[in-house]
Amino acid sequence: MGSSDSEEIIKARERAVIDAYRPICLCNKIRRGIIVKAIQGGADSFEKVRRRTGAGTGPCGAQRCGPMVRGMLGEEVAACAECGWSILKSIEPLVCPRCGSENVRDGRESAAGQNKGG
Ligand code: FES
Repeated sequence: MGSSDSEEIIKARERAVIDAYRPICLCNKIRRGIIVKAIQGGADSFEKVRRRTGAGTGPCGAQRCGPMVRGMLGEEVAACAECGWSILKSIEPLVCPRCGSENVRDGRESAAGQNKGG
């Protein structure tokens, strides 16, 4: 354990804090940390997360946050290569609901923080 170890730990903590503040549900301003707490508290389905946090109850009808939350729950998620939107792999055809692109790439929700919002 040298000073570089503690710098790595400090950076990892900073990343964790920043990640926790990443917005998941833009409609209701619900951040990733709230969703994680709900899941850790036993919410094991999108419906349970929705009831505990309010995520997915906004005017977009969970189009944005739904796939991200489901990805956090372990469902397979792809990301639109054009706009970064999260797309559930279980829904065919694999077309981005945001921009209509069929150009998607693999990615799990842990990467969904990459969504550019909007
Ligand atoms: S982003 Fe969550 S309901 Fe719209």
